[in-house]
Amino acid sequence: MRRWTQGPAAFVRARYTPRHRTYSLQAQQQKQPAPSHALPTPPATGTAFPTRRDPAAIVAPELDALRQSLLGLLGSAHPGLDEIAKYYFLHPSKQMRPLLVLLFARATNGLGSDWRSRRWAAECDGAGGRAEELDRPLTRPDVLNDWNPSMPSTTASFASVFSLVPPAAAPPRPPPPAAFLPPPPLGTAPLLAPPGPDALLPTQRRLAQIVEMIHVASLLHDDVIDASALRRGAPSAPAAFGNKLAVLGGDFLLGRASTALSRLGDTEVVELIASVIANLVEGEILQMKDVHRAVVPAAGGDAWNVYLKKTYLKTASLMAKGCRASVILGGCAQGEVWKELAYAFGRNFGLAFQLVDDVLDYEAGEATLGKPGGADLQLGLATGPALYAWEEHPEMGPLILRKFEQEGDVEMARDLVRRSSGVERTRDLARAHADKARELLQGLPESEARASLELLTERVVTRTW
Ligand code: FPP
Ligand code: MG
Repeated sequence: MRRWTQGPAAFVRARYTPRHRTYSLQAQQQKQPAPSHALPTPPATGTAFPTRRDPAAIVAPELDALRQSLLGLLGSAHPGLDEIAKYYFLHPSKQMRPLLVLLFARATNGLGSDWRSRRWAAECDGAGGRAEELDRPLTRPDVLNDWNPSMPSTTASFASVFSLVPPAAAPPRPPPPAAFLPPPPLGTAPLLAPPGPDALLPTQRRLAQIVEMIHVASLLHDDVIDASALRRGAPSAPAAFGNKLAVLGGDFLLGRASTALSRLGDTEVVELIASVIANLVEGEILQMKDVHRAVVPAAGGDAWNVYLKKTYLKTASLMAKGCRASVILGGCAQGEVWKELAYAFGRNFGLAFQLVDDVLDYEAGEATLGKPGGADLQLGLATGPALYAWEEHPEMGPLILRKFEQEGDVEMARDLVRRSSGVERTRDLARAHADKARELLQGLPESEARASLELLTERVVTRTW
């Protein structure tokens, strides 16, 4: 057994490297009592430990403010585009992705060795971190042509011939602060970040908005692909505005998110979040009928891998990379374990989240989901419950391979799932991922934010948000 004392990176590597075992088997093993592992010893904070408060309540003021200022980021002088870009933000949502970004920021700020310089940058005008600076164009407004009435940039007139404008001198950068020194080794000094709203950096708040914009962009596209009539109990964007505007609205959100991302001024974060956009598209393509047929061999042996890969790409990637990016913006330097921990947490949490969603699609109806239950089979999707049912009822195989296309297939599949332990085993698998996510948190110092993240890993399975 590898303990934390051998180094946090070694601990995370040893415990969280994939075992190359099918998830079906892994889930079966959940029924055995799990071997006990020693938990890592996190660095001490010296603070007393708080009770577990509602996760959303801890960052509620930030989440509210964030939603309001996000609407400002999405303004467009184009009537119609403005309305559709904001449409999904006007219906209440859990804002799960921003919540994870903010809680991880709170739980890890002060741990990374670049935290001092990041906090200095946030407090010092001209160093790239102040909230107002994140809204300031990096490019001349007449070149940027960002036509957003809520932002301080302008769109130039297009009536005249555009002439050469000599570049303005770059503003002087402030000198580095005297206190810009690496912190003492962990454990020898109290952590810098006090718990509380001050521990959040403006760049981390902006990141929380960016991940939500990307998520909503993907929903706008997804509702066109799935031909969904409802989202969160209201008409979907394609139902309200038509497919063309829904797709363009999603593209517009991605454009605004990309601009905001570049203004964070961190190339590693830009790379991470840009790669999520590619992952979302890959995940969506992977579940498309023809592609799915080509990658799942007739024997069904690879179906689990394809399903879990798709689940990571469509759902867990944004959560995992969002948490990682948040920790990087908080000053986690290359070679430090905090960002690895954040990624591993988000990946397990995201997989648990989607697996439970897939269970709810069988169990719940419109009242709970805000859309009709049983949608996955109608869309030809074989999720966890159907794949487990296949192990118990071989007659499920042909239905999965032809994507429930023939008359009666959907009803027969539902019946086979009902007569199997597929739903229960999928929930077990989700619980296994949620438990792993919670174990990982033990590598962080105790804090109110960590306690809230722990609570989320329980609620992700029970869905009692
Ligand atoms: C919801 O899935 C959809 C996603 C999580 C991602 C969809 C991704 C794309 C359409 C690719 C394009 C991406 C971008 C960023 C433009 P679901 O249908 O299982 O869930 P639902 O029931 O909420 O619709
Ligand atoms: Mg959908």
